[in-house]
Amino acid sequence: MSSESKKNYIVQPGGYFKGSIRVPGDKSISHRSIMLGSLAEGTTNVTGFLEGDDALATLASFRAMGVQIDGPKDGKVAVHGVGMHGLKAPEKDIYLGNSGTSIRLLSGLLAGQKFESTLTGDKSLSGRPMKRVTDPLALMGAEIDSNEGKPPLKIKATNKLKGITYMLPMASAQVKSCILLAGMYAEGKTTVTEPAPTRDHTERMLSGMGYKVDVQGDTVSIEGGGKLTATDIDVPADISSATFFMVGAAISEGSDLTLTHVGINPTRIGVINILRLMGADITLSNEKMTGGEPVADIRIKYAPLKGIQIPEDQVPLAIDEFPALFVAAACAEGQTVLTGAEELRVKESDRIQAMADGLTILGIDAQSTTDGIIINGGVIGSGEVESHDDHRIAMSFAIAGLQAGGSIQINDCANVATSFPNFITLAQQVGLDIDEIDE
Ligand code: S3P
Repeated sequence: MSSESKKNYIVQPGGYFKGSIRVPGDKSISHRSIMLGSLAEGTTNVTGFLEGDDALATLASFRAMGVQIDGPKDGKVAVHGVGMHGLKAPEKDIYLGNSGTSIRLLSGLLAGQKFESTLTGDKSLSGRPMKRVTDPLALMGAEIDSNEGKPPLKIKATNKLKGITYMLPMASAQVKSCILLAGMYAEGKTTVTEPAPTRDHTERMLSGMGYKVDVQGDTVSIEGGGKLTATDIDVPADISSATFFMVGAAISEGSDLTLTHVGINPTRIGVINILRLMGADITLSNEKMTGGEPVADIRIKYAPLKGIQIPEDQVPLAIDEFPALFVAAACAEGQTVLTGAEELRVKESDRIQAMADGLTILGIDAQSTTDGIIINGGVIGSGEVESHDDHRIAMSFAIAGLQAGGSIQINDCANVATSFPNFITLAQQVGLDIDEIDE
């Protein structure tokens, strides 16, 4: 897997972003297209699929459960659905690499199957909390063994799950989705209430495939025993990947960049809202719906940024975008304060600490707090920083190079391939002086 070969990035200082690019497909939607496509009746044709390690891990796991999947080729995948009860027992443990979305959503889906399965992952995934999914699944009647609340997850065969009414203890789309997927296999109704809105791609795709989902404010309900009908899915470009380019353009004078066909689902646009509050010049055009998801072209031009208190209601809507937003804060005038974001500590790395440490090395005053960070805008210097094998940390420090005083070396960047395999090529194309060195 990518995480086993050591790749570092070297970024030379300066430059700005110009041009028009389309970043790869949305990771969350790509995962769900394989999962729901596999359970549907008929063939789901997917375009714009993210050919990154995480979504490919999901794809491989469904192949291992007997689903015929053609591709991916040029972002096209054909998933020949086997129906709600057509999955076969995998012959081996299912290895999900770095992918939290794969393991958490699959745990719900597999809890409802009549066969046993074991889900494993890489070092980072093996350290991530899974009680958040095993607890509600246990209430539904699932039996799952874990390593003290962490992977591997051994999911026993179940006769029948039962519906639950569950209040999520944290704002997590992965946990919400896990419970909804298990709910399709449960007797009666499963109801999930979330403390704050999180991405709703599962709900949208279920509805698009004809499975009734009832959404009332912060509460989602699903009845067990339904079925999914195959449909075509056009995966928009991932706003989380677009973020690195949005921030890069926002911080470097002379920038004028357009990112095309980006998903702008209201549960994902915290980054646009936060950058605008900081003073960024962002315009949207060509807004339309595709496969139940809104998309637009995003144009971002350089404008001086100012530090802000980030509104807590934006945190779940920008959860994956904070490492890059911290770079924007480092380049802004004044102080930026983030609170209510403790979830960042249990992502692919502890993203609060990883960014605070790296920014400090680069000469920025960045203080981590238990649930956030305080960053005083300043002048980015040069140095060697650690990505902690986290794709988003690696790409965030890469774009910091645009405003750096000297070169930045970023260690252990192989996992960029989990979400953004052509990051280097696109970054070079629009104006970043970046190279990869293998060790
Ligand atoms: C995701 C949900 C988020 C996000 C992750 C993808 C999803 O995680 O960080 O990258 O596809 O549902 P949480 O739901 O744990 O916040």
